[in-house]
Amino acid sequence: MKKTVLFGAAYVALAHGAAHAQQAEVNIICSGQAPWCSMVAVTFEKSQGIKVNMTLKGSGEAIAQLVAEKANPKTDVFFGGTGDPHLVAAEQNLTLEYKSPLLPKLYDWAQRQAAQSGYKTVGIYSGPLGFGYNTELLAKKKLPVPQTWADLIKPIYKGEIQSANPSSSGTAYTMIATLVQLMGEDKAFAYLAELHKNISTYQRSGVGPIKAVARGEAAVSISFVHDGPGEKAQGFPLETITPTDGTGAEIGSMSIVRGARNLDAAKKFYDWALTPGAQALGAATLQFQLPSNRETKVDPRVPDFRKIKMIDYDYAKYGQAAERRRLIQRWEREVNGQAR
Ligand code: F6P
Repeated sequence: MKKTVLFGAAYVALAHGAAHAQQAEVNIICSGQAPWCSMVAVTFEKSQGIKVNMTLKGSGEAIAQLVAEKANPKTDVFFGGTGDPHLVAAEQNLTLEYKSPLLPKLYDWAQRQAAQSGYKTVGIYSGPLGFGYNTELLAKKKLPVPQTWADLIKPIYKGEIQSANPSSSGTAYTMIATLVQLMGEDKAFAYLAELHKNISTYQRSGVGPIKAVARGEAAVSISFVHDGPGEKAQGFPLETITPTDGTGAEIGSMSIVRGARNLDAAKKFYDWALTPGAQALGAATLQFQLPSNRETKVDPRVPDFRKIKMIDYDYAKYGQAAERRRLIQRWEREVNGQAR
């Protein structure tokens, strides 16, 4: 009898194990906004039959986790967030070279992002940096809409502007790198020190400031302008503008982790995420970055790069770990450390 019971238990355990073995799974860190991340997880899981375990993390926290897990990775795919942490991960050999069969379908900027990382990452979307502003608050305070970077340091905006902290936010790092490329490094830091006097708060995440502006907690934000239409669609008095003196853009990226335990599932997810169907889930959840697949339908609310004065952003240089660290440390020392 005892023997039979043991056999039964072992049988059940085996059957259970077999069922587990059948259900493939993939562990993803998502650095996009929550509604998009969830929609991506649910749709991939349903359509491909692969279970998705998804964690939401800002790009800065994501790279910290990949470094911490280096010897024993628990993450398979790092999805979304600005490109710089993905390039840093590639440089530090935390991510795996993979050439998706979908690569030729992508815009040149997305393919370049892949090529310059040795195919350890790829561009999944792009979006320009600019300003968000609350139309009602500006009118109430009789403040003009800022048109240029130079406008933001005028004393009339003292305490009216929010930005993010570059130690945790790729948006804020993109701002620093953009200003350095526009003005030269010393002038950019002198500018950032002036801007500091007008900043009320540096938020942890890049979308924090535009959400605060939409809700009337600040008048102006420095943000990716693709994050504006989603707030406006929810009824907030929010508009965006890009500076006429030129601006930079992010190349939101995706990478497979070196040593991923679920490599086949990770590659399936990666290829799927580059299809027009998967990329359309962005606009479906009010995310208006420009998708990287040329065949993805572009929502009319996606910012039109042809109407914006873009700088020739050097992604390779500003995605280098040492350069990124140096600029962020300089910002902490010369800007964030100063009194307002
Ligand atoms: O999810 C919205 C978004 O603006 C993305 O386009 C971008 O990659 C990400 O936020 C950057 O977030 P953070 O500045 O918090 O790193």
